[in-house]
Amino acid sequence: MRKPIIAGNWKMYKTAGEGVILVQELNALTNAVNDVEIVVCPPFTALPAIAAAVAGTNIGLGAQNMHWEEKGAFTGEIAPGMLKDIGCTHVIIGHSERRQYFAETDQTVNNKLKAALKAGLKPIMCVGETLIDREANATKRVVGAQVKGGLDGLSGQQVAGLVIAYEPIWAIGTGRTASAEDANEVCAFIRRTVAEMFDQPSAESLRIQYGGSVKPDNVAELMAKPDIDGALVGGASLEAESFSKLVKFK
Ligand code: G3P
Repeated sequence: MRKPIIAGNWKMYKTAGEGVILVQELNALTNAVNDVEIVVCPPFTALPAIAAAVAGTNIGLGAQNMHWEEKGAFTGEIAPGMLKDIGCTHVIIGHSERRQYFAETDQTVNNKLKAALKAGLKPIMCVGETLIDREANATKRVVGAQVKGGLDGLSGQQVAGLVIAYEPIWAIGTGRTASAEDANEVCAFIRRTVAEMFDQPSAESLRIQYGGSVKPDNVAELMAKPDIDGALVGGASLEAESFSKLVKFK
């Protein structure tokens, strides 16, 4: 059985102070939950304060990005070991906003995945197609290439512990969710692709999240699908009440 993982991607929202209040409220609502993994991913500037606020709780801490080099002259970048050092457990890699606005490619995603694993961080690798891709029936070709490029050179054992987030770009922040059937179809396709690249047991262990306008009123239907093992959530993770409802989807 794969343990569901619900992760909140705060994107460029929340100061450190606002974030601490949010996780305190969230913890009060979810501290009895032990059958779902809970992760919050604040902006870099809030990470140290949130690390202190989640210490001793069941809430994991993720960053939203990192560089793949261990150190060096990379102005403005953050190294994997720096995230680990301040208490991060997870890191989001290759979010579509980073691919779209910051020129991330399958190659940089692959570099970052390897660096995150080396540093002992748990990566959440994002994949997903544009509306143009979907309307051209290219979803599987595009997502398949992202999965193959991103996971290139990893071992089955490494992949077994990964989280992949399937986020159709047209569903992000738009209020337009993929139907549970469509989302599950792509998640199942991702699992088959991983089984072909590595092996069936690794693919069965891999957790696959859906992301894109996940809200309290659609989470249960999505989570009931056999290949959807969690959610990567933007808007609804910015408020404790709505995020706690997603965590308590059962
Ligand atoms: O990474 C989460 C995300 O991109 C989905 O955002 O606001 O549609 O839940 P949202």
